[in-house]
Amino acid sequence: MTANESGRGLTGEVYYPSEEIVSQATVKDYETLYRRSIQDPQGFWAERAEELEWFSKWETVLDESNPPFYKWFVGGKVNIVHNALDRHAKTWRKNKLALIWEGEPGDSRTYSYHALNREVCKFANVLRSMGVKKGDIVTIYLPRIPEQIIAMLACAKIGAAHSVVYGGFSVEALAERIEDAQSRVLITADGGWLRGKIVPLKETADEAMARQPTIETCIVVKRTGQEVYMEAGRDYWFHDLMSLPIANQACATEVVDAEDPLFILYTSGTTGRPKGVVHTHGGYMVYVYTTLKYVFDLRDEDRWWCAADPGWITGHSYIVYGPLMLGATSFMYEGAPNYPYPNRWWRMIENYAITVLYTAPTAIRGLMRYGDAWPNRHDLSSLRLLGSVGEPINPEAWRWYYTVIGKERCPIMDTWWQTETGGFMISPLPITPLKPGSATRPLFGIEADVVDEHGNSVAPGEEGYLVIKKPWPGMMRTILKDPERYKEQYWAKFGNMYQTGDSARKDQDGYFWIIGRMDDVIKVSGYRLGTAEVESALVSHPTVAEAAAIGLPHEIKGNAIHAYVILKAGVEKSEKLAEELRNHVAHEIGPIARPEQITFVESLPKTRSGKIMRRVLKARALGLPEGDLTTLEE
Ligand code: PRX
Repeated sequence: MTANESGRGLTGEVYYPSEEIVSQATVKDYETLYRRSIQDPQGFWAERAEELEWFSKWETVLDESNPPFYKWFVGGKVNIVHNALDRHAKTWRKNKLALIWEGEPGDSRTYSYHALNREVCKFANVLRSMGVKKGDIVTIYLPRIPEQIIAMLACAKIGAAHSVVYGGFSVEALAERIEDAQSRVLITADGGWLRGKIVPLKETADEAMARQPTIETCIVVKRTGQEVYMEAGRDYWFHDLMSLPIANQACATEVVDAEDPLFILYTSGTTGRPKGVVHTHGGYMVYVYTTLKYVFDLRDEDRWWCAADPGWITGHSYIVYGPLMLGATSFMYEGAPNYPYPNRWWRMIENYAITVLYTAPTAIRGLMRYGDAWPNRHDLSSLRLLGSVGEPINPEAWRWYYTVIGKERCPIMDTWWQTETGGFMISPLPITPLKPGSATRPLFGIEADVVDEHGNSVAPGEEGYLVIKKPWPGMMRTILKDPERYKEQYWAKFGNMYQTGDSARKDQDGYFWIIGRMDDVIKVSGYRLGTAEVESALVSHPTVAEAAAIGLPHEIKGNAIHAYVILKAGVEKSEKLAEELRNHVAHEIGPIARPEQITFVESLPKTRSGKIMRRVLKARALGLPEGDLTTLEE
């Protein structure tokens, strides 16, 4: 239904929620609550924080004395695991399902809150007995299996920070994250299942450990069962450790400060190596809990499926911590969406009666191309809400998702946010009239705007920098070991505003339309990669002298990586070498970073100071005007 038909005053293509959705929604009046949250953010956030349990209450809601190093709930004593597990274990929820999991080969497991808590306590005891404590950073490199969640929660429970490295990353990506975090303990698996094949995680981990010898103990989950190398005195099977008597002792949850680190999550930035984004127990806990509660309205009867990987922020916030704090039942699936057939997801939605599906536009586009017959063979009537995240959703994919999957009953929550923001920032609520491709409006406590080069708001319809004007509890606190970079990258450009790195425009109804990254970050299938990482993987190959990577539009992936390579003198270019270089990048960073295309060139466009002008490469590839070339070297 369009605005004109309904006469409700919004412009463009608008979809209104049904009476039923509106009548069930937690928040029925966005405007009033939003206004309140902006007028009195500290009061608003204190109330939200009081919905959770604290060992002792905070003294100050927000400490703004040293911007941009904001602190939230200062003086509060807490542990997010207490709210995710311990408090449910004391109520009727102990026998409620926390997690339903299906492996790619079709095996499945379920955990009640009680059972999940037991596993977490056992593994926490194991880690404690190995001397892991507050201040340590444990690296986790696992497939999408329950042990991934158990490992994360066990670290948090004993006050250690986790650094989860996505299981799709490879040797160099893992090695540099281990090195930066100086991890002594690594948790991995023999392998994971993907498209019917084994992803050899332990093999990759062995190679990474050889490059970064900080790891003293490597704990290996047996998932795929093939023979793997186990180094005596360093490598231990997870199941052996879990059956030690020490694992079965009682396990108290560590009391930590609200501002103590909960996890480090590496993400790609404009320059150089990935940066370790630091999130804390207190503020992150309140923010993730509140955003999930309001945006997806999770209820006890829901079956929530966030189809991301726990190795990315989406999984941290909305597979692991958020749903557990809300006492929800989550579903998790190990493998590929189209394995063995393109109906895998739809079959699981039917089998498990999933009520909310939260996924990425790339997955929707990928499944859309198989046609409507696959989803139409399944009963998807359990669904009540849908979600999207990771990149702008093109209206065509939005309409397919809305019509074919949601049967025009299920509003789509297009949530805009980032690793750095901790949780949803701009997003509809179930009651919000939707426009395909727009993340709609800022959530409570979030002052978002679109500004020009000087930080002034631009007019409706104009493109500009997306910024956030005030701190919020879920925000990152710093970059691990590099507070200067945190300040420089996020807060320097516009004085005291958080710079997101995205461009956007706001329409006359105040709806935000995210356009994309303005920096050298490429979103490939919703995954975030830096041009610098791809380039440094390329130049680590013995034949490559110089390389430049850019993202170009791709029908399914959103963007795909295209690389331009200057070979060392005397090296012959060939199709075979191009293939070898593509495989080399996949081996170093991971299959997601494999360039779509490699072009051998004699020179690269550079500024006089020697910086590669990727913008020029991109314009040339797209046949667009090359713009201002006054800084070009020749
Ligand atoms: O460009 C925006 C895009 O993803 C970036 C953040 O990536 P990452 O830190 O990996 O976190 C992804 C999951 C939260 C943003 O700067 N992005 C994320 N969500 C959306 C989006 N772009 C448009 N619409 C979205 N809903």
